[in-house]
Amino acid sequence: MTKGELIFEGNEKQVFATDHPDQVIFRYKDVMVAYNNVKRARIKGKGALDNQISALLLDYLNRNGVETHFIELLGEKEQLCRKIEIIPLQVVVHNRIAGSLAVRLGVEDGYRNPNTIVDLRYNNDKLEDPFINRDHAVALGLATYQELDGMYNIARKVNDLLFPLFHRAGIELVDMKIEFGRASDTGTIIISDEISPDTCRLWDEATGERLDKDRFRLDLSRVEESYKTVLDRLNQVMIS
Ligand code: C5P
Repeated sequence: MTKGELIFEGNEKQVFATDHPDQVIFRYKDVMVAYNNVKRARIKGKGALDNQISALLLDYLNRNGVETHFIELLGEKEQLCRKIEIIPLQVVVHNRIAGSLAVRLGVEDGYRNPNTIVDLRYNNDKLEDPFINRDHAVALGLATYQELDGMYNIARKVNDLLFPLFHRAGIELVDMKIEFGRASDTGTIIISDEISPDTCRLWDEATGERLDKDRFRLDLSRVEESYKTVLDRLNQVMIS
């Protein structure tokens, strides 16, 4: 497999073509952005940590019956992935109400909801990723009702798999964002993009300490160290 031209340059990652028509290479950069790209920093080692954590989680999902775009790790900062057509939606699962949802609903950050909440956002930087509902998504031609049902079901299954996995690592999966795409070879809707401390809220079960991108958003420092803690603990539960 040969690495080809750069086909997408995002804030935090690059995507390269390969000599296989249905495969691409994701390269994670040492860059972190937040608040719709208003806050930005270079964090050495972050790309490698994100790449490895995401690879570990996506591989775990693949092995447990949830199709993702991940194929294999290629190196410290790179992974081979299935090529997809992006569906510009974010499905967000909340096991607790935190962050922007806590502000929107007027409850304290970390409110314990008795039910699992699944939210839908339109992935659109110009509009600042607004919350939308299924009818909006269908009206915009982003997905059919049937496809949305499928994405919600997959999101709940991902949560059912990852919540206990993180729990074994002494980490609470507070919420997470999942993105989907249509696989270029089969047309199936599969999980795309990353699942990592960049896209999840992860709280240390013992101390309540945040181990995710909120450390950067809220200027809590030790971002890289926290991501390393997540990777080390996940690696430990994977081998035990
Ligand atoms: O920002 P908000 O509180 O709505 O985030 C909910 C969850 O979705 C968090 O885990 C956050 O990291 C993730 N998220 C994301 N990308 C965005 C917005 C939120 O990964 N653009």
